Amino acid sequence: MTKALDGVRILDFTHVQSGPTCTQLLAWFGADVIKVERPGEGDATRKQLVDVPGADSLYFTMLNHNKRSITLNTKNDKGKEVLERLVKSCDVLVENFAPGALDRMGFTWERIQELNPRMIMASVKGFGPGPYEDCKVYENVAQCAGGSASTTGFLDGPPLVTGAQIGDSGTGLNLALGIMAALFQREKTGRGQKVLAPMQDGVLNLCRVKLRDQQRLEKGPLKEYSQYGEGIPFGEATPRAGNDSGGGQPGRILKCKGWESDPNAYTYFITQAPAWKKICDVIGKPEWKEDPEYATPPARLNKLSEIFATIEAWTMTKTKFEVMEICNPLDIPVGPILSMKEIAEDMSLRETGTIVEVDHPERGKYLSVGCPIKMSDSPVEVTRSPLLGEHTSEILADVLGYSAEEIAELKEIGATEAVKKLAAE
Ligand code: COA
Repeated sequence: MTKALDGVRILDFTHVQSGPTCTQLLAWFGADVIKVERPGEGDATRKQLVDVPGADSLYFTMLNHNKRSITLNTKNDKGKEVLERLVKSCDVLVENFAPGALDRMGFTWERIQELNPRMIMASVKGFGPGPYEDCKVYENVAQCAGGSASTTGFLDGPPLVTGAQIGDSGTGLNLALGIMAALFQREKTGRGQKVLAPMQDGVLNLCRVKLRDQQRLEKGPLKEYSQYGEGIPFGEATPRAGNDSGGGQPGRILKCKGWESDPNAYTYFITQAPAWKKICDVIGKPEWKEDPEYATPPARLNKLSEIFATIEAWTMTKTKFEVMEICNPLDIPVGPILSMKEIAEDMSLRETGTIVEVDHPERGKYLSVGCPIKMSDSPVEVTRSPLLGEHTSEILADVLGYSAEEIAELKEIGATEAVKKLAAE
């Protein structure tokens, strides 16, 4: 079967997480993704958080499926020449180097346009234009600068970063979307363009409800926040709201049976207004259905802590899965707090390809996250990540048309660089 991006060739100059998630998605949609890596070491994540000595790390393998790897020192003349030929042969260049790195290599936007006017140049940077545009940025910096950390955590604790990689993988998604739109526009204009996805913007985009609350706060207290019912005054900025629901339907994380020994024996419970009467029956408080103090959402707002404590007294008598089994048929929105172990063992996620098992020559079988987007006419088969430089000869010959002698010479340069580096260490 054909794939959505058959015929699209990506020059993947990305490293670490944000850029590689973007190009991995493009590869899953069928693009030919050529990952350019430094001879001898490659993407730094290959050897970060190593769990199998000598093998590429899970960090690397889980971000670089379905790609080909070519090693190239793009700072020497031969390497630059190969890179130029790749620029001419590809549709999209994706990079997430520190600001200015590509310019220093000699590949400015102007030069790239000269080489290939159809080229789409897509970049992840920490910040957009402005005071911080030259900064190097990692995930947690983006979470802090994008408004996520100041609004995550509990009121009486410090700002918190989240486990979801919203700055890296989140921005990778934005970049992939920008590339798709640019490819679509190129169909009409024949021209490439620059696509920029700053990590701060990506995080803020996901925190829009907190900017909404910042403006609502100017008009009065945020009544759906727990602190309102607890009588704690609001400050000038959107506060941390613990596990309060971010929407208009109050929700909390509540203990379930076994919470004393299982750190994930919890459920998320939402007191959605249309389900209120059923909630009252389930938790043994039928009198709350008609009591004007509890019957309407506005009346409940200053009693949320008491209400959730009563619901929790009920959830603590059930496992998180029993809570779901009882509440779902009644249309009461609840969700178990699933551990990574439970997710890894969930066979229904394997059946949909959301979690995949991949075989790797150095490390054997491992689990990875599959494509989160399912397309009926463009199925995804996840194949293992490339070894460092595994496809160098193949790409030089098939994509760029180098002869066997030229390839031998170019590979020698790569080897020399690796030897030099080892000698320097
Ligand atoms: N051959 C020769 N040199 C190469 C090369 C190759 N194949 N590939 C990369 N390099 C060089 C670059 O030219 C650059 O050299 P220079 O600084 O002398 O110009 C250097 O390797 C790598 O640059 P840099 O991006 O600064 O790496 P770093 O490890 O110091 O910083 C980040 C890492 C992630 C902080 C930084 O790249 C960054 O801020 N990126 C943008 C934001 C981002 O994506 N962050 C999230 C990462 S998950």
